[in-house]
Amino acid sequence: MGPMTAPFTISGTVIKGNQLGRKLGYPTANLDLPDAGQFHHLTGVYAATVELESAIFPGMANIGFRPTLEKPSFTVEVNIFDFNEDIYGQNISIRFLERIRDELRFNSLDELVRQMEKDEVECRGFFHFP
Ligand SMILES: Cc1cc2nc3c(=O)[nH]c(=O)nc-3n(C[C@H](O)[C@H](O)[C@H](O)COP(=O)(O)O)c2cc1C
Repeated sequence: MGPMTAPFTISGTVIKGNQLGRKLGYPTANLDLPDAGQFHHLTGVYAATVELESAIFPGMANIGFRPTLEKPSFTVEVNIFDFNEDIYGQNISIRFLERIRDELRFNSLDELVRQMEKDEVECRGFFHFP
């Protein structure tokens, strides 16, 4: 198969991740993906929308191995802008609209957060969502 290009959609049930995102200031909804291997080639950071219970929200998503973490693991996850609800157990669809960068290994969580702040600015810009 040739290179896959955005946009594409991945759906699944929201499960609890490491709960680290909350501490970092960027809580994420992590998808339960029994066959995650099929998404490995899509690794990267994206501007994305999230559909849940027939409402659609803008956000930013990561598909990747999370090399910065002490225990890296492959996940598909999304931070929804200005959203603070418990959606564990809900079925959501993430639509990956624009790939903004490669996933990177940072030397500290502080550096990762500084990059995520830039990602947020870029993705909000993509949506014209101040
Ligand atoms: C927009 C965005 C960009 C991310 N970029 C990276 C990255 O470049 N490198 C990395 O190791 N993890 C990256 N992550 C994953 C974070 O490490 C992860 O969200 C955080 O550890 C919280 O995970 P948890 O929900 O399992 O607690 C990114 C996550 C998001 C939402």
